[in-house]
Amino acid sequence: MIKFIDFVREYSYLRKEISRALTMMFKGGWYVLGPEVKKFEDEFSRYCGAKYCVGVNSGTDALYLSLLSAGVGQGDEVIVPVNTAIPTAIAVLMSGAIPVLVDCDNSFLIDIEQIPKVITKKTKAIIAVHLYGQACNLRALRALAKKRHLLLIEDCAQANGAYWEEKIVGAWGDFGCFSFYPTKNIGAYGDGGAIVTNNQNYYKKLLQLRFYGQKNRTESVRFGINSRLDELQATILRVKLKYLDRWNKRRQQIAELYRKSINNLNITLPSTASNSRHVYHLFVIRSKQRDKLRKFLQKNGVETLVHYPKPLNKQAAFKRYAHGFFPRAEKYAKELLSLPLYPFLTDAEVKKISAIINRFI
Ligand SMILES: Cc1ncc(COP(=O)(O)O)c(C=O)c1O
Repeated sequence: MIKFIDFVREYSYLRKEISRALTMMFKGGWYVLGPEVKKFEDEFSRYCGAKYCVGVNSGTDALYLSLLSAGVGQGDEVIVPVNTAIPTAIAVLMSGAIPVLVDCDNSFLIDIEQIPKVITKKTKAIIAVHLYGQACNLRALRALAKKRHLLLIEDCAQANGAYWEEKIVGAWGDFGCFSFYPTKNIGAYGDGGAIVTNNQNYYKKLLQLRFYGQKNRTESVRFGINSRLDELQATILRVKLKYLDRWNKRRQQIAELYRKSINNLNITLPSTASNSRHVYHLFVIRSKQRDKLRKFLQKNGVETLVHYPKPLNKQAAFKRYAHGFFPRAEKYAKELLSLPLYPFLTDAEVKKISAIINRFI
């Protein structure tokens, strides 16, 4: 069976390095928000070209705390793409604001032309999701956000290391929010997340928001939660960050190989914008016979997934926020299929998967 993702291959490759780093960390005797977290925050903010980084518990918290630090809450509206992972919109609900859904374009990214139509007096922010590893048009989004006095929050959970034009994602907007869930382009061995920002004021608030609103060990100065990154995850992330660019290149090679090898005319390959460096968190093809193709691949020993079978307007938790029409997202949701793609997948496996797809009628 070719698994959708095989974590053990990566672990076997990194085992010695990780064991060494973890032993040092354990011997240091500090396990939550300690020196490894601080070093990771410094390294990651540098990697993203941002002034500040705050390690948190998850990508969901990264989004939620960003909204809180900018004062977004009850009575506010936040624009999100309808075809994102559920946590993008859950974070908006956590803040007390209302998610306003927008359809996607033919690259699966938020349709920027639709955004002005849903801006109201209550709109406070746009969350741009760099879905599947491809950056949204950040130049256009930043100009729009500036013109309409809105915050721009980048949901970079799936796009660690992606670029729009010559600039990496994360620091184009007011906040860049990352997830280090194990499947991500750099994943922890548990939950983890981070926020990058260039704004010192937000940075200072975020440090308190992730730590019960405290400014030091004993004084609480605002509402806050426990959303700390632990030393174990930070140690692992520091090891993996060194490999991220190399692994993203490998992801791009695999995507190219899929593009060259899949020649079934009934399959639509993912489109990419020329100004974007896609990091292929996912390789998502489209087929009108998606469910049959998926079964066929499964029967032939290939595991696949669907990201996502239902857009937010079809999810019970979000139906009440679904005003308007989302024809693209609804059509694509029936056709999308994510093929295995991770840095340790071999060329032979990619060719085998492609050959099976080519045999599908
Ligand atoms: C686009 C997107 N946003 C946010 C998240 C939430 O990240 P986490 O699972 O770390 O909370 C995810 C994770 O699946 C995601 O894919």
